[in-house]
Amino acid sequence: MKNISNSDAAARLIFALDAAGLDEAQRWIALLSGHVGMFKVGKELFTAAGPEIVGKIKQSGSRVFLDLKFHDIPHTVARAAEAAVKMNVDMFNVHAAGGEKMIADAVYAAAACAGKQGIPRPVVLAVTVLTSLNDADLAQIGFEKTTDELVVQLARLAHKAGASGVVASPRDIAALRNELGDDFIIVTPGIRDASQPAADDQKRTMGAFDAMAAGADYIVVGRPIRQAADPLEACRRITEEIARGLDAGKRRP
Ligand code: C5P
Repeated sequence: MKNISNSDAAARLIFALDAAGLDEAQRWIALLSGHVGMFKVGKELFTAAGPEIVGKIKQSGSRVFLDLKFHDIPHTVARAAEAAVKMNVDMFNVHAAGGEKMIADAVYAAAACAGKQGIPRPVVLAVTVLTSLNDADLAQIGFEKTTDELVVQLARLAHKAGASGVVASPRDIAALRNELGDDFIIVTPGIRDASQPAADDQKRTMGAFDAMAAGADYIVVGRPIRQAADPLEACRRITEEIARGLDAGKRRP
């Protein structure tokens, strides 16, 4: 297996662009373009800044993960998927709990729309169980399975419906890899410096090295970069960890 270069490794680093508005977001784009593989635009920033933020990221030459976690009737989600493709996002996600038809219709609509536009089809990911929910929360909303069981069940459903992968917490990576093989994409948030205890709301954390070695394809990192004294240096450190983790996990570059 060849050694993984730093540019291959940086492509696996998704920066959570959790900014309050366009100005702050643009400062991060200017600083980090070329140093991270993708910018993740979530509900806060997209609601505040709209599609313009996606255009700004694409103009900088970077890739976009639109993290809006679509969950609605299949027809509505399919139309939202088309709107995402028309913005030329590289990755977007839906809630697996929306059901097989909703996921499949989103995948189909995205592929068909990309074909019409003559652009590459985006990666469609499914969100399984939000990491803010524990077994008691699931019971309260009427699910009988544990979070671990439901994560695997929903990932299987997403796979069957044609999704390209899932967003998964670090502790689910091994089980999902085992269950769904190497070709299913796993994107993992909750990454923290392995040498320091988490000082924020992320409870089930893992270092970048361990997440990649366990089988993640991409990691999502926000605060460890945003709150670093030197964000570029933090990116470089994380990228090196990714490269070493890919090597250790013997996953394809
Ligand atoms: O700042 P931090 O590194 O915790 O950012 C992680 C990002 O990943 C945030 O944008 C958060 O909303 C997102 N995320 C997460 N856990 C999930 C899904 C998404 O932390 N299960």
